[in-house]
Amino acid sequence: MPDDPTATASAAPEGAPETASETASEAAATVLERADALAARTEEPGRLTRRFATPALAQAGDLVLGWMRDAGMTAHRDAIGNVAGRWAPPGLPAGAPTLLLGSHLDTVRDAGRYDGMLGVLVALAVVEGARGRDGGVPFAIEVLGFADEEGVRYGTAYLGSSVVAGTFDRSALDRLDADGIAMADAIAAFGGDPAALAAARRHPADLLGYVEVHIEQGPVLEAENLPVGVVTGIAGRTRAELVFTGFAGHAGTVPMTLRRDALAGAAEWIGAAEAHARSVDGLVATVGEATVAPGTSNVIPGRVALSVDVRHLDDAVREAAVAGLRARAEEIAAERGLLAAWTEVQVTAAVACSPGLTRALESAVEGAGVPVARLPSGAGHDAAVMARICDVAMLFVRCAGGVSHNPAEAVTAADVAVAIDVARRLVDALARER
Ligand code: HGY
Ligand code: MN
Ligand code: MN
Repeated sequence: MPDDPTATASAAPEGAPETASETASEAAATVLERADALAARTEEPGRLTRRFATPALAQAGDLVLGWMRDAGMTAHRDAIGNVAGRWAPPGLPAGAPTLLLGSHLDTVRDAGRYDGMLGVLVALAVVEGARGRDGGVPFAIEVLGFADEEGVRYGTAYLGSSVVAGTFDRSALDRLDADGIAMADAIAAFGGDPAALAAARRHPADLLGYVEVHIEQGPVLEAENLPVGVVTGIAGRTRAELVFTGFAGHAGTVPMTLRRDALAGAAEWIGAAEAHARSVDGLVATVGEATVAPGTSNVIPGRVALSVDVRHLDDAVREAAVAGLRARAEEIAAERGLLAAWTEVQVTAAVACSPGLTRALESAVEGAGVPVARLPSGAGHDAAVMARICDVAMLFVRCAGGVSHNPAEAVTAADVAVAIDVARRLVDALARER
């Protein structure tokens, strides 16, 4: 493995001009500059939070639309607020297929600046490189910047990619955010059109596939000292809400034996969920949000709402775990005189990346002089949704310490250059195939 991964990236990919991969390093510098520019588009000064259909997302999308147009693409926003840029080589025959590249532009709260954005920016770099490719490209390339992958504002993830895939659940339009704003109203206020979501879907017959470049958000590539890796599959996920209802009372006068403390019950359940997840290989269970009511220090909590996130690469294991966690909530509630209400919010099945497109991606990694590491994704990605309408493949990029969903998220220009080089080689290989 050469010391400087980009050194191998300078080996001209077969069929591409010598300068194509040399510009991978220059393109990587642009990617990092643009990631910094996007990071400044935030709802919360001093930290990066960019939720679905917010002014910050509009500002970020406007930046990306501008870069798309500078790259010679036609660019627009679709009915849910995704940004989409299209590059069709001169003389491309009508009916030629489209290769989709991209990722998401929304973030979690207090986020890192590469989760999602890296994939959109690398995709742009691929188009900028494809335009100079000798021999042209016998397909169009579209770059997608999805408007909501994280699901922070409405609790349901993949709003953007589910519209493109035609799997959007219209009942979500009635969901309210923390300020009581219905999703349909948020979409309209953002300039989208809730009535046109179905028409915004893409049709499988038009698509060559979807390729997503994303930070690994885990420690494997760093441990193996590799700049990139090929994703084998994406874990399935159950999102739910679990509400424990007890009885609010005076913290000073109600004896411990007479309490129906919703928070104490929730805490017992959280401990049980953690213990169960620790006992099953590959299973993760997380409570990321807890809302305590009435939320006063001298009042015994009467109601606690928990977010629940359970994941595993094997859907049967995940489903069995969810059933067990629900049962445990009922048991704890019964023991404590509480009520437990479990509401499923969203279930996304595990997805295997497409063999053919993934093999082509592996060849591109080898062509870039990097040993091929294959690894599953514990994180969810838009590719899991896009797999409903086309072949999908994913390339992971090493991130410092495997840290993500944290402002400490970081990548190196050298690794980004390798990712760009690999993605460009993939396009070259797909072009040669056709
Ligand atoms: O939660 C996830 O797995 C992703 O970051 N949306
Ligand atoms: Mn994320
Ligand atoms: Mn992501």
